[in-house]
Amino acid sequence: MPPLTHLAIIMDGNGRWAKARGLSRSDGHKAGTTAARAIVQECRKLGIPYLTLYAFSKENWSRPKQEVGFLFTLLKDFLETELPTLLQQEIRLHVLGDLNGVPLATRTMVQHTMNKTALGTAMTLNLALNYSGRHEIVRACQRLLAQKVAPTDVNEELFAQHLYTAGMPDPDLIIRTSGEQRLSNYLLFQSAYSELYFTDVAWPDFHASELHLALQDFAHRQRRFGATGEESA
Ligand code: IPE
Ligand code: IPE
Ligand code: MG
Repeated sequence: MPPLTHLAIIMDGNGRWAKARGLSRSDGHKAGTTAARAIVQECRKLGIPYLTLYAFSKENWSRPKQEVGFLFTLLKDFLETELPTLLQQEIRLHVLGDLNGVPLATRTMVQHTMNKTALGTAMTLNLALNYSGRHEIVRACQRLLAQKVAPTDVNEELFAQHLYTAGMPDPDLIIRTSGEQRLSNYLLFQSAYSELYFTDVAWPDFHASELHLALQDFAHRQRRFGATGEESA
């Protein structure tokens, strides 16, 4: 199996999962939270050092106000409930995205959780929150320009240091649930050589057994990074 240091997931399909059951989209998101909790635990158990979950994209602001409000309240409650477990399991919370745009109560809880878990060394849990891959790239450019870095000094390594994932490895595997086969503005710079795994299973049904199926699939991938894939002489 190729090394798996960073797993990133696009948790999609809460709404469709709920609709298929005659439930509200909120019920779908609630069920999605339960799935997220279990997957965090499983990744921790498996010893995966970095797990990134797509919780809310910058584009998700175009959803009805009530749904957006519900999602942020749900996230706040999730962190309140999970904090003791994160501490006990030495999981560090980190955010990818613009926290300033996040409603105050949720932002406060996110910051509190990040502060409390800052010394966690067993796993980093990245929450992509109010996140846009294109914006992340533009922001990196703005930061480099603001520092008046000489154009000839800009290279891929320096650029990566100005992304939200500074200092972290690129995702080895990106999983998307619920049938769509697109990145939806997720980790655009970092996904250059990520393996992609798509499943029709909706996020609330993505149990540990589904994660293991994805990992089994990944185990058979041959990562080439542009080389021939043959043993070098
Ligand atoms: C994923 O489920 C959760 C978020 C994007 C916040 P969706 O809400 O996108 O569910 P579908 O895609 O409408 O089924
Ligand atoms: C991507 O899902 C964002 C998250 C999972 C948070 P979307 O449901 O927003 O993506 P699109 O709109 O189907 O591309
Ligand atoms: Mg969706």
